[in-house]
Amino acid sequence: MVIKELELKNFRNYSSLNLGFSHSINVIYGKNGYGKTNLLEAMFLCCVGKSFKAQKDAELIQYGKDSYKVKTKIADGICGSISVFYERNKSKYIEIDGVYIEKMRMLFGNLIGLMFSPESIRTVTDGPMYRRRLLDIALCQTNKEYYYDLMMYNRFCEEKGKLLLMGTGYDGLEMEVINENIAGFGAAIAVDRYNFVRELNEIAGKYYSYITDEKESVSMRYFPYIHSFNSAVGEKIAEGDGSDFSVEAVKEDFLRELNDERLIKREREFRKNLIGIQRDDIGMDLCGNSLRSFGSQGQKRSYAIAITLAEMDILKKKSGRTAVLFLDDVLSELDNARKSRIIEMTKNVQTFYTCTEKEMMNTGLAGGASINYIDVEKIR
Ligand SMILES: Nc1ncnc2c1ncn2[C@@H]1O[C@H](COP(=O)(O)OP(=O)(O)OP(=O)(O)O)[C@@H](O)[C@H]1O
Ligand SMILES: [Mg+2]
Repeated sequence: MVIKELELKNFRNYSSLNLGFSHSINVIYGKNGYGKTNLLEAMFLCCVGKSFKAQKDAELIQYGKDSYKVKTKIADGICGSISVFYERNKSKYIEIDGVYIEKMRMLFGNLIGLMFSPESIRTVTDGPMYRRRLLDIALCQTNKEYYYDLMMYNRFCEEKGKLLLMGTGYDGLEMEVINENIAGFGAAIAVDRYNFVRELNEIAGKYYSYITDEKESVSMRYFPYIHSFNSAVGEKIAEGDGSDFSVEAVKEDFLRELNDERLIKREREFRKNLIGIQRDDIGMDLCGNSLRSFGSQGQKRSYAIAITLAEMDILKKKSGRTAVLFLDDVLSELDNARKSRIIEMTKNVQTFYTCTEKEMMNTGLAGGASINYIDVEKIR
């Protein structure tokens, strides 16, 4: 799928914009603070319904205005257009082909996008929250059940949290029902995450070697916060066993842990949920040592890029469609050899690069591929 056109109204620094794109490489260049990232943010908003950097939609409205509108026109996809409209203090209004969608999950998969921004390196360098976010964004876009499971899981966790706070948590039938649901939805999510990370590990490892041209290997492993499932994952990896897990079996284990007397005692004491997929993580190793602690800046950055490219392959396999790639400032710290390898890998996909100088990305580096240059100063 490709984005043919982007229309903006009072979005960030754009009062009004109508811009067409090429099906392959688009390079948005211009000075710092001129609005390059804002364009990627607007397009990605149409993929997942949320900004990749702002917490609140109100931040996206142009200063002094009351609403924003973003519309993408799409080719080779399931739909022809997606519009997101937001008016201050009201709920967000999303349309697919001009028809209002009631549930956010109806948006996922219509325009599949992958974003690499300077923030993406946090997947490698920062806390587990960033790795869970990576899993959730990728899985929600390709697996409608995943989003539903996640929504339901969070809902039941919230209910459980309320009961625990009231201090009467474990005294009724209600908690039994809640735990049963937490185990069911949680197990489905954990198995999806396991499968995804297994695939991501394999492909990202290959991309990493290609980008860096280095001999060292990087690998990743899913660490579910369901103890018995975590041990089972460890055993499978150690034995090189590539077979799948059954959701039912993981659910049974999870439920057993949720009903464990010692856990119940601790949850009562702390008055909160102590185990579950909300505390999952992914471990990343560089030749057997933690990449996060021992990797250089360049190694971490290269692996973060490799992860994005691997996600692109997996999304394509799962959805049968090619994702649109948004690579914000990806080229800035890379030497020409690495730049050309990355461009080479992205030239058959619609890709949006941003950079400050047009020269950072030239046709020589792109192996002669045609590039659509967009001077952000001219479109503001
Ligand atoms: N709600 C808003 N209304 C108007 N302008 C905004 C709003 N939010 C951000 N801006 C402006 O957008 C600009 C930042 O845009 P953006 O982050 O896209 O720049 P950039 O070209 O990517 O810069 P860099 O090269 O530094 O990454 C700033 O000038 C900021 O003042
Ligand atoms: Mg930027």
